[in-house]
Amino acid sequence: MSNAPLIDPFDRQINYLRVSVTDRCDLRCVYCMAEDMTFLPKAEVLSLEELDRLCSAFVDMGVRKLRLTGGEPLVRKNVMWLVNRLGRHLKSGALEELTLTSNGTQLAKYAQELADAGVRRINVSLDTLDANKFAAITRWGNLDQVLDGLAAAKQAGLAVKINTVALKGVNDDELDRLLTWCGECGFDLTFIEVMPMGEIGEQRIDQYLPLSMVRAKLAETWTLTDSDHQTGGPARYVDVGETGQKLGFITPLTHNFCESCNRVRLTCTGTLYMCLGQDDDADLRNALRASDDDAALQQAIREAITRKPKGHDFIIDRRSNQPAVGRHMSVTGG
Ligand code: GTP
Ligand code: 5AD
Ligand code: SF4
Repeated sequence: MSNAPLIDPFDRQINYLRVSVTDRCDLRCVYCMAEDMTFLPKAEVLSLEELDRLCSAFVDMGVRKLRLTGGEPLVRKNVMWLVNRLGRHLKSGALEELTLTSNGTQLAKYAQELADAGVRRINVSLDTLDANKFAAITRWGNLDQVLDGLAAAKQAGLAVKINTVALKGVNDDELDRLLTWCGECGFDLTFIEVMPMGEIGEQRIDQYLPLSMVRAKLAETWTLTDSDHQTGGPARYVDVGETGQKLGFITPLTHNFCESCNRVRLTCTGTLYMCLGQDDDADLRNALRASDDDAALQQAIREAITRKPKGHDFIIDRRSNQPAVGRHMSVTGG
């Protein structure tokens, strides 16, 4: 049946599609990319019309949540055309949420337009509030540009969740400050364990900070109460008594959440990855281009879902210093 829900071999329903609209980015975060990156060849990148068709096929097959990622999604030329176009699925009720994960550098320009297109909430990556550290982590970024973007998002009425990758010796002394600051701004916050994806020219073990430790330390000064809040993403949340905001923990290493995985990810060249932490993929571009009719495409999507693995094999220790997967996070946007 063409619009039957997508159910994988472990009985998980796939209702969340993450779409990397470009693997390019205007920053080079040290845990995400090498300084000297080779990007996907432009000639292989799908047009925005093709991305719309692909996303819409997934929506027809039961996807209720669409997240545009990158690289940095807002550096893709004309990306607002795609956002506006996908907005029709919100209006029809087929889609519950259309959202973005962004580094915030272009938000001052786009926040209002995003809100007008039906986006209600965005996730913005920010690992530090210290301008010098920010420049070091991102290799050249300007913190004020992101703070201006966040102010614009707030002004436009977008709910904001800050994503902070917890990095040992880099921002571990700042996590309290970030929590306070998010409380003041009315933003939710999620801490993320660094994942071993792609060669970055540094040792992951030197960056890795287990969030179980972070949480125990925070609980000494903050009132953290487990929350049943769910976004359809992998974070587990606590309510922060002192700020009234939520704090999430994304713990692929210390606590695997794959058993409840509901998502797959599409790259800008039309490759579908069924798991963030595995290499197996499916080429949807050929099926997309083979015919104007979606039958072959839908069949290729269903076949891919039958190959969704049980989970990732991320591991960070002294003995396994190879990345779990060769591709960088910027190819799939998480
Ligand atoms: P919401 O819950 O909707 O706010 O979003 P999200 O947490 O699903 O998305 P976001 O793009 O903010 O991702 C936050 C972090 O979660 C990123 O570091 C992603 O790489 C990571 N993440 C998302 N999905 C998965 C997954 O399936 N496996 C793993 N290991 N990490 C994931
Ligand atoms: N491990 C964990 N998170 C990562 N991100 C990028 N690379 C990694 C990694 N290796 C984060 C970004 C962004 C989100 C999409 O993924 O900071 O918040
Ligand atoms: Fe760009 Fe995001 Fe990767 Fe940083 S984490 S380099 S902002 S894609």
